[in-house]
Amino acid sequence: MSGQAKPSLHIDSYERNWIIVTVVLLVVFATAVSVAGFMMGINVPAPQNRVDPKTVNKEGPFANPGLRDLGGGKYEAYVLAQMWKFTPNTLSVPVGSSVTFYITSIDVQHGFKLANLSTGEATNLNVQVVPGQVSKLTIKLDKTGTYQYICTEYCGASHPAMFGTLEVTP
Ligand code: CUA
Repeated sequence: MSGQAKPSLHIDSYERNWIIVTVVLLVVFATAVSVAGFMMGINVPAPQNRVDPKTVNKEGPFANPGLRDLGGGKYEAYVLAQMWKFTPNTLSVPVGSSVTFYITSIDVQHGFKLANLSTGEATNLNVQVVPGQVSKLTIKLDKTGTYQYICTEYCGASHPAMFGTLEVTP
C-alpha cells in the first residue's frame, strides 16, 4: 500500500452548507428550549409518580384531596379526576400564592387546564391527567379573580360539564 496518496477529506459544498444549517438549527433549538425552561419558567409536565388508579383515592394524599398550606405563600393542591368531576371542585388561595398541583385520574384520561375567568386569560398550567400516574405542575397566581380548571380531553357524555373553580382572593 506504499506510495498511495494520502486520502484527503473532500466535502461537497452543498453537503457542507447543509451541515452548517443543521448545526445552526440545533443551536437555535437548544437555545430556545433553554430560554423557555430557565428564563420563562415554561416546564414540560413530568409524571411525578406512578400510582394504582384503583386504590389511589383510598390511601395517601389523594384519599383526602384538596389544599395543603405549606406556609410562606406555598400550597399543594391534590386533585382527583374522574368521569365527570374534579375533587375538590372548588379551591381558594390568596393572591401571590405558589400552588403545586398534583393531579391523577381514577378512571380514564382527562385533562386539566387553568384559565382566569375574570380576564379571559389562559395560564400556562395545562396538563394531561392519565390514570396510573400523577401529573405535577406549579403555578404562581399573581392576579386576583375567579379561575376555572376544565377537562381538556374528551372523557364521555358529560365531559363539557367537568370543571372546577379556583378563587384567587385579595
Ligand atoms: Cu374529563 Cu373530559
